[in-house]
Amino acid sequence: MSNDKLWGGRFSAQTDEMVDDFNSSIRFDKRLYKQDIKGSIAHAKMLEKQGIITSCELEKIIFGLNKILEDIEQGKVSFSVSCEDIHMNIEKLLTDLIGEAGKKLHSARSRNDQVALDFKMYSQEENILIQTLLYDLLEVILKLAKDNINTIMPGFTHLQKAQPVTFAHHICAYFEMFKRDISRLKDCRERTNTCPLGACALAGTTYNTDRKYVSDLLGFYEPTLNTMDSVSDRDFAIELVSVISTIMMHLSRFSEEIILWCSKEYDYIELDDKFSTGSSIMPQKKNPDIAELVRGKCSRVYGDLMGILTMMKGLPLAYNKDMQEDKEFLFDAVDTVKMCLEVFTKMLSTIKVNAQNMLKSSKSGFLNATDVADYLVKKGIPFRDTHRIAGEIVFYCIQNSKNIEDITLDEFKSFSELFGDDIYDEISLEACVQKRKTLGGPSSESMSKVIKIYEKFLGER
Ligand code: ARG
Repeated sequence: MSNDKLWGGRFSAQTDEMVDDFNSSIRFDKRLYKQDIKGSIAHAKMLEKQGIITSCELEKIIFGLNKILEDIEQGKVSFSVSCEDIHMNIEKLLTDLIGEAGKKLHSARSRNDQVALDFKMYSQEENILIQTLLYDLLEVILKLAKDNINTIMPGFTHLQKAQPVTFAHHICAYFEMFKRDISRLKDCRERTNTCPLGACALAGTTYNTDRKYVSDLLGFYEPTLNTMDSVSDRDFAIELVSVISTIMMHLSRFSEEIILWCSKEYDYIELDDKFSTGSSIMPQKKNPDIAELVRGKCSRVYGDLMGILTMMKGLPLAYNKDMQEDKEFLFDAVDTVKMCLEVFTKMLSTIKVNAQNMLKSSKSGFLNATDVADYLVKKGIPFRDTHRIAGEIVFYCIQNSKNIEDITLDEFKSFSELFGDDIYDEISLEACVQKRKTLGGPSSESMSKVIKIYEKFLGER
């Protein structure tokens, strides 16, 4: 008895059914069919150019591969587990379709460089799609910022009220985060952009191949420079999952704030009914499930990152079958981040900003205490001393259930003779915000400058 697999020559028995099932990756790597076919066409063109196959064979191969692509897209193909993975499934379909020429396609190639190529091309394509979704999110953030440049809200540290900012200022912090994520994706794409095809199993080949030609055809900068590394490198996937993890972390922090903001304790925003859910028992509930789920899904992407890192950590060079596990981690991370970005962006574009409540909330909690201290600094007292005086005023206000701006000038003067009538203008919430003209700060002057820069950034997307 022999084995009818593509690699069956040296075997005297058929593969156990359970092994076929355990060993195969077609269940999940079938999503690489487009990349696999594109890579194969480039490879075949190179084989023909180098005189390894004839032009007639090339024609048949290209015809066959395009037909298979069409059939897959029309749902006409059922893949087989016994053909193990997408590479051997397509090769088998091709040979069934065009005969002998199909059997020549795998000259000067191995599944090891083939899978590295397909997975790289997939990473590069998804990288761009994620960038597009991030840009869409930035558009929504920028619109909200422009509409809320004067919407005063409390800024927090330690989740304790700190100093007044604006809603525009607060959410533009997220603009910065997602902008960095785009730049990280671009970096990752640059580094990924080398072509592993032609590395073959691990040691290149004795055929006279032209790796540069294949690399050019597929749009890479250049071929990789070490054939062993080419087939055992998964840094590009790890890097992409790592960038995706950072995006998810940013989305998760944003979600956390949205969840807080739409609780009745804050009541800073209201989510649209279309992006909220109810309770099966409590009739009054309107829950921010979408934001909670985005926050929750961040953890599974961290899991993907740990999974792919751990899978690689002990592998000797070059290819090892463990690496077949790389795909599900990246696929899951990509699917999750794309889904989260899309739904989060839609949700954010429909929120109602409750400016009145943000303002009301800014009026308690002594957000202007630093400004009291700064006022006295301008009168000549060292900051360390004015900090103490302002602290004593806060203590006095707590005892007397007052806000700082509500105490009389006499009361102010009991803490320092240097207080004058102008203190009230100096510590109004508007003044506290508008005086902060620091580059990157909350004043409308500073924000307008930054918003212009953001508009330019998005104009160049
Ligand atoms: N399905 C395999 C993977 O995803 C393809 C490469 C298999 N190579 C091999 N020599 N068994 O990694």
